[in-house]
Amino acid sequence: MTKKKLRSQEWYGRTGKDGFIYRSWMKNQGFPHHLFEGEKPVIGICNTWSELTPCNAHFRDLAEALKRGIWEAGGFPLEFPVMSLGECSIKPTAMLFRNLASMDVEESIRANPMDGVVLMCGCDKTTPSLVMGAASVDIPALVVSGGPMLVGRFKGKKIGTSDVWRFAEDFKTGKLSQEDFIEAEAAMSRSVGHCAPMGTASTMAAMVESLGLALPDNATIPAADSRRKVLAHMAGMRIVEMVNEDLKMSKILTRKAFENSIMVNAALGGSTNFILHLTAIAKRIGVEIDLTDFDHFSSKIPLIANVQPSGEHWVEDLFYAGGLPAVMKEMEKHLHTDAITVNGKTIGENINKAECYDRNLIGTMEKPIKPDSGIAVLKGNLCPNGAVIKPSAASPHLLTHTGKAVVFETIDEYKAKIDDPNLDIDENSIMVMKNVGPKGYPGMPEVGNMTLPKKILDKGIKDMVRISDGRMSGTGYGTVILHVSPESAIGGPLALVKTGDLIELNVPNRTLNLLISDEEFAKRKAEFKPTQLPYERGYVNLFLDKVNQAHEGVDFDFLQGSSGSEVKRDSH
Ligand code: FES
Repeated sequence: MTKKKLRSQEWYGRTGKDGFIYRSWMKNQGFPHHLFEGEKPVIGICNTWSELTPCNAHFRDLAEALKRGIWEAGGFPLEFPVMSLGECSIKPTAMLFRNLASMDVEESIRANPMDGVVLMCGCDKTTPSLVMGAASVDIPALVVSGGPMLVGRFKGKKIGTSDVWRFAEDFKTGKLSQEDFIEAEAAMSRSVGHCAPMGTASTMAAMVESLGLALPDNATIPAADSRRKVLAHMAGMRIVEMVNEDLKMSKILTRKAFENSIMVNAALGGSTNFILHLTAIAKRIGVEIDLTDFDHFSSKIPLIANVQPSGEHWVEDLFYAGGLPAVMKEMEKHLHTDAITVNGKTIGENINKAECYDRNLIGTMEKPIKPDSGIAVLKGNLCPNGAVIKPSAASPHLLTHTGKAVVFETIDEYKAKIDDPNLDIDENSIMVMKNVGPKGYPGMPEVGNMTLPKKILDKGIKDMVRISDGRMSGTGYGTVILHVSPESAIGGPLALVKTGDLIELNVPNRTLNLLISDEEFAKRKAEFKPTQLPYERGYVNLFLDKVNQAHEGVDFDFLQGSSGSEVKRDSH
């Protein structure tokens, strides 16, 4: 069989002036000439290392393990940086820049001489942005996640990011002092790695493993565990083989792979952000999925992993109990076990020998951790294009609830009024926040799980129904309805809700309705004036102009569909 010419030879295999230019400057790094002769696949290492992304701050070290594997397998590793998105620091929200980072990744891969790429992902948005960008180019690609941090310890208790919300409530009600609050900060983040619960980062790491884009155990090996480096080393070896086999992303990212991933996310009680990111990735690679798929495939699967925020434990514990392969083994009969993965084996082959070592951590289909999991998609006159709720993180008694709306037109209004003792609100009210959708608050911030008013927390009440067109942190919980589409800022029906209106939520029936007459609905719609959008220049301007709605993945319309790896123009 004739060996396929490597893509990198379009650069390094040139003769004359062009070849000189492409090779000569690379040689200033001490690379000998034989590396450019086309025998060794060039493997890009797309690194999101940054001290401003603390969850990815160990990636320089991890990249060295990757390189060892690439060299060992006969490849030529070249590491390059891309925009890194640190969830906890970036203002106004890292999601605003997910599409920008994906464009950086796409153009960095396409424009450079690489035959395959390893995507180094960790903190929440660093995974979807890299996968989306690479999918748009469609060369062989493999994801290595950074791994979860070790579980924190505070006053004798295990803690992780999902405790931030509890600490905030306890601080508000005076149960936690300022000194304890500060001590908890260091106790929670005591090792390298991303957030310890099944928040968005771990949800994304599980997403790539269940899609077949990462090696088995990628989702759960702790960042500080030496086996994370072993995984990186093995990934480095495998990407070289993938180039030789021409195993491109589009061969792995099939409709079956997406269905598998939705079911696995349900079993894990993964983040609601999963919906936005998986939808965007599917549209990049040209696979059709929509919100109804999330509800349909989730509804077959109970909560199998007992991990926060839907359960009690942590991703580190899940690894010791058998990891994601053991979870997938329990739900094997529902999965497309013939879906191919980056190691050249099927999902079925990868989980064949998986075992559960701790039934406190991993339930079974017959004896799950909770019967409800996954994502419920709501429809109704408040959300004609859908809204979502995570039943496993909600209060069962609120899943069917009718209450009076208390409306906050903006985040600022919420902050100003929420603890006003005169605010007319009780535990049966429904909190509504407007103008936090993709355009209304560019990037769609994670503010949907609004903290309850102090006077209600003081009564010992921990949950109320909350509705918004925004998002919620993957570590958040509560009866929180998110991603209302279309959003209020562009005239979605959420914009028409007034304080005192009755809203009816019925999760079993998948409905969310504003209980006003059709005449009143039409009158308010006719009177609606669009919100003045807050920014006007640069990237934010592009975002406001091109971003689509939550049910479409909050991507840019012009980025959907893969445009391949060919470089159309050549400067030399
Ligand atoms: Fe980075 Fe949570 S802040 S994963």
